[in-house]
Amino acid sequence: MEQQTHTRGFGFYLKIVIGLALAGFIVGVLSGSITWFSEDTPIMIINDMDDQFKVKPQVGSTFYTDRKSGREPLPNTVPIEGSAYPLDKPDFDKADSLIGANPLDISTPEKRQYILSRGKNRYEAFCTPCHNYDGQGNGAVVSRGFQNPPNLRDEVTKAKTDAHLFHIISAGQNIMNGYADKIKPNDRWSIVHYVREMQKLGVK
Ligand code: HEC
Repeated sequence: MEQQTHTRGFGFYLKIVIGLALAGFIVGVLSGSITWFSEDTPIMIINDMDDQFKVKPQVGSTFYTDRKSGREPLPNTVPIEGSAYPLDKPDFDKADSLIGANPLDISTPEKRQYILSRGKNRYEAFCTPCHNYDGQGNGAVVSRGFQNPPNLRDEVTKAKTDAHLFHIISAGQNIMNGYADKIKPNDRWSIVHYVREMQKLGVK
C-alpha cells in the first residue's frame, strides 16, 4: 500500500503567519500599545494603574482653579524637620548679625571631605539648572531664556559673607527663590562651603 504523505503547502503557513500578525495588531490597537489611529483612551485589559487621578510634574492641574497641583503652606507653617527661616528676601542687611558664621567645621580632612561632598551633591541637585556645575551661570534653563544669574565665582559674590550667602540660599534674591523650605539648614551651610571651594578656582 502506498504510504500517504501529508505535506501542507506554502499557502497554509502564510495564512497562519498573516492571521497571527493580524490578531497581534488588533490586540495591540485595543490595548493601546499601538496608537497610530486614535488618541482615545485605550481599552485597558490589564490596567496596571496606568490611568490615575494624580498630578504629574509640569502639567497643570484641573482640580484647583489656580491650576497649581500643590497647595501653598498656610502662613507660619513650620517644616517637620528644622525651623522656619526667620528672615525674608529683603532682610539681607540683617543676615550678618542674625545668622552669624558657618557652623560646619571643615578643619580636618575627614570633615572637609564629608561636608564638601554633601555640599556638592546638594548644589548639583538644586542650583545647577541656573548656576551651572561650575558656578559660572549659563545653566540649562538659561539656555532656554531664563535670566542668567551672576557668576558665583566672581569678586562680587566672593566678597559676600557666609551669612549673606546663607541668606540668599535661604530666602532668595530678586528673581531667585529661597530654598529654606526645600534644603535643610546644615545642607544649606554645606552648599556655602562648596560655593567657597568653587570660588577658589576664580573666573574662567
Ligand atoms: C531658577 C534659577 C536659580 C536657581 C535654581 C538658583 N539660583 Fe541663585 N540666582 C539666580 C539668579 C537669577 C540670581 C540673580 C538674582 C538677582 O538678580 O539678584 C541668583 C543669585 C544668587 C546668588 C547671589 C549672587 C550675588 O553675588 O549677587 C547666590 C549666592 C546664589 N544665587 C546661589 C544659589 C545657590 C547656592 C542655589 C542652589 C541652592 C541657587 N542659587 C539656585 C537664579 C537661580
